[in-house]
Amino acid sequence: MIIMHSLERIIISLFLLINSCQRTITVSALPPEPTSKPIVLWHGMGDSCCFSFSLGQIKIILEDQIPGVYVKSIMIGQDEIQDVENSYFMNVNKQIDQVCQELSEDRNLQDGYNAIGFSQGSQFLRAIAQRCPNPPILNLISLGGQHQGVYGLPNCGSLEHVLCDYLRRMLNYGAYYKFVQERLVQAEYWHDPLRENEYKKYSIFLADINNELTINETYKDNLKKLKTFVLVKFENDTMVQPRESEWFGFYKPGQAVELETLQESKLYTEDRLGLREMDKDGKIHFLSVNANHLQFTDVWFIENVINQYLI
Ligand SMILES: *[C@@H]1O[C@H](CO)[C@@H](O)[C@H](O)[C@H]1NC(C)=O
Ligand SMILES: *[C@@H]1O[C@H](CO)[C@@H](O)[C@H](O)[C@H]1NC(C)=O
Repeated sequence: MIIMHSLERIIISLFLLINSCQRTITVSALPPEPTSKPIVLWHGMGDSCCFSFSLGQIKIILEDQIPGVYVKSIMIGQDEIQDVENSYFMNVNKQIDQVCQELSEDRNLQDGYNAIGFSQGSQFLRAIAQRCPNPPILNLISLGGQHQGVYGLPNCGSLEHVLCDYLRRMLNYGAYYKFVQERLVQAEYWHDPLRENEYKKYSIFLADINNELTINETYKDNLKKLKTFVLVKFENDTMVQPRESEWFGFYKPGQAVELETLQESKLYTEDRLGLREMDKDGKIHFLSVNANHLQFTDVWFIENVINQYLI
């Protein structure tokens, strides 16, 4: 039913081409620190592993700041265009399985690695931490991740003109229908606070990794193995609704106006996922950036992420 035909591929390619001209890098040479852990990156919606304007650039900064570091940027599919498509249309649970397999076979990662998620890539990497503990993630950095899901899709990346309205209609119409869940990535972390019970029952991805219906002790144990879990929220985010989701906050159940923080939520008060324990142990770091979605500067990234967690 959902098939990317050639016109859409051309539009995506054009979008990517236009974007590749938009951001320029400033890279400065710093003294080498050769003993750093390898790093795994997982890109966001409508993005790919390796474009020069996004994760390709991040990889360059990492390699420049941490000479000799091994950086693996996850690609789902045979090429970058498929990678973009799969960020909308491939069952997330299948993506997690596939990536788990790939990471466990990568000999560079065998002693553990640090991981950085970009937007939805953040909750996918958290699923890796919970479901796929070998090799272990040491520090997990979530940049604008939607850990309590989203309710709204105000902006939808590179498919803006082609499929955004279609995606929104599908999500409003039947995000929790099985055939939608199995095919539409954003439905798998769609969190409708007006239909909290349906979400808990039928969300095949987010409700599962958030231990909504039942508590999977393995998930708790595995998540608690992280050294630190860094949650970066973008204070002026117009893409993630509600942006509090980036710190595990969300709407209080039953309505879509009033918000609650992680600390006020059942997830925390009942410690369903081990987050309360981690928080008490000082393992969760809440960072915020005064900007829109993922709009951090290279200097911010170097000072607050690389120097703090990756060296
Ligand atoms: C808990 O999660 C693990 C890891 O994904 C899985 O193998 C196991 O089946 C889950 N247990 C339950 C009760 O769902
Ligand atoms: C972010 O939003 C606040 C108000 O919500 C505003 O005062 C501030 O200037 C904004 N910052 C940026 C970088 O847009």
